[in-house]
Amino acid sequence: MMKPTNEMAVSFLSCSANESFGRAAVAAFAAQLDPTIDELSDIKTAVSEAVTNCIVHAYRDTLGVIYITCKLYEDGRLSIRIRDKGCGIEDVEKAMQPLFTTSENEERAGLGFAVMESFMDKLRVTSKPGKGTTVTMYKTIKRRQAEKNT
Ligand SMILES: Nc1ncnc2c1ncn2[C@@H]1O[C@H](COP(=O)(O)OP(=O)(O)O)[C@@H](O)[C@H]1O
Ligand SMILES: [Mg+2]
Repeated sequence: MMKPTNEMAVSFLSCSANESFGRAAVAAFAAQLDPTIDELSDIKTAVSEAVTNCIVHAYRDTLGVIYITCKLYEDGRLSIRIRDKGCGIEDVEKAMQPLFTTSENEERAGLGFAVMESFMDKLRVTSKPGKGTTVTMYKTIKRRQAEKNT
C-alpha cells in the first residue's frame, strides 16, 4: 500500500447545518488535485449522502460526532472516510441495495448508497450495530497540470 502524500481530518457535530460544512471541507481538500467541475461535484454529492446518513440515521434523534478523514496518494487517488459512532447497520448488504430505506420520510428515496457507488470509483461500508458505521470511498483524479505535493 502506497503512503499518502497528504491527509486531513475533521470532526463536527451531526446537526444538519454541518452537512454543507462536511461537503465543503472535503471539496477544499480535493481541490489540490485540480479536479474538473464534474469530478468535484461527484465527490461533493457522495460526501453529502454519507454525511446526511450520519445525521438522519446514525444519530437519528440525537447529536453525535461525525469524523472525516481524507488521504491523497501519489497516483491521484483520493480516499474519503466518513465515520460515525451511531446506531450502526444490522445488514449492510441489504442497506446498500437501491431503494432500501428504513426512513418513513418520502424525501429519502433509499438511493444514498447507490449514488455514492456510482459517483465514486469504489465504496466500502463496515458497521457494527450499536457501535457505528464507517463509509470509505475512493476516487482517482487524473493529473492534468496539478503540481505534486511535497
Ligand atoms: N451511517 C448510518 N448509520 C446507520 N444506518 C445507516 C447509515 N447509513 C445508511 N444507513 C441505513 O441504510 C439505509 C439506506 O441508506 P441510503 O441508501 O442512503 O438511503 P436513505 O438514506 O434514503 O434511506 C438507511 O435507510 C439506513 O437504514
Ligand atoms: Mg441516505
